[in-house]
Amino acid sequence: MNIQWDAEKYTDDFSFVHRYGDGVTGLLENQENMTVLDLGCGNGALTEKLSQTCARAIGLDASAELLKIARRKYPDLKFIQADATNFELPGPVDAIFSNAVFHWVDAAKQPDMLRCVYRALKPGGQFVFEFGGCGNNRLIHMALEEAFAKRGLPYRMPFYFPTIGAYSALLEQAGFKVVSMTLFDRMTELKGPDGLADWIRLFVKRPFGELSEDTRREIVEEAVNALKKDLYRSGVWFADYVRLRGKALKA
Ligand code: BEZ
Repeated sequence: MNIQWDAEKYTDDFSFVHRYGDGVTGLLENQENMTVLDLGCGNGALTEKLSQTCARAIGLDASAELLKIARRKYPDLKFIQADATNFELPGPVDAIFSNAVFHWVDAAKQPDMLRCVYRALKPGGQFVFEFGGCGNNRLIHMALEEAFAKRGLPYRMPFYFPTIGAYSALLEQAGFKVVSMTLFDRMTELKGPDGLADWIRLFVKRPFGELSEDTRREIVEEAVNALKKDLYRSGVWFADYVRLRGKALKA
């Protein structure tokens, strides 16, 4: 995972990412007695929430910028800087939690990440997660692909949005017992009059590569205009999120 974050903007304007973590936390049993790792903790907002219900919560993230914010806001919590696809903890934990992270990890790297997760858990340990599933932001990516195609440019999907079947198979290959997995739509309200354009600029960087600032702006404008009929309602922008939420146990 190698993402350059506008850490402050992410923290200020896209706080819904953390608000939606509650449904995943609810999958964890016996929280009061356990140490939990927040994998891809970002600015630490959910690590802090977990620390209120669990005996101990630790955050892990690759981004130095986001960890700087996390350590400043939550000086009593432990945060580790490491890549989710290549990490090792000093000792095993009872549970691993992750929200809105795994779609950033390339398909080819998912087995590496799941191997690290498996190794980091105690026997019987709980692994709960939510991230973008099959069909996530389909309208947004289709509109961008169309604007790229109009200019003779290829649009390479920068995210991993698997089906229930594909992700269950990966978990089982890594040794996990899958106990639940759901895929559901969640139209998500975006902040501000340019909410969708801001979302695209912050999150969809890779396909634009070396394109000039003018071309980038034109493509974003064109896609946003095309999406207005589907994603703009009563003065508010939405993103067409689809979540894959699951729980697996270390066998
Ligand atoms: C998501 O949470 O599904 C997501 C966020 C940013 C980019 C892609 C997906």
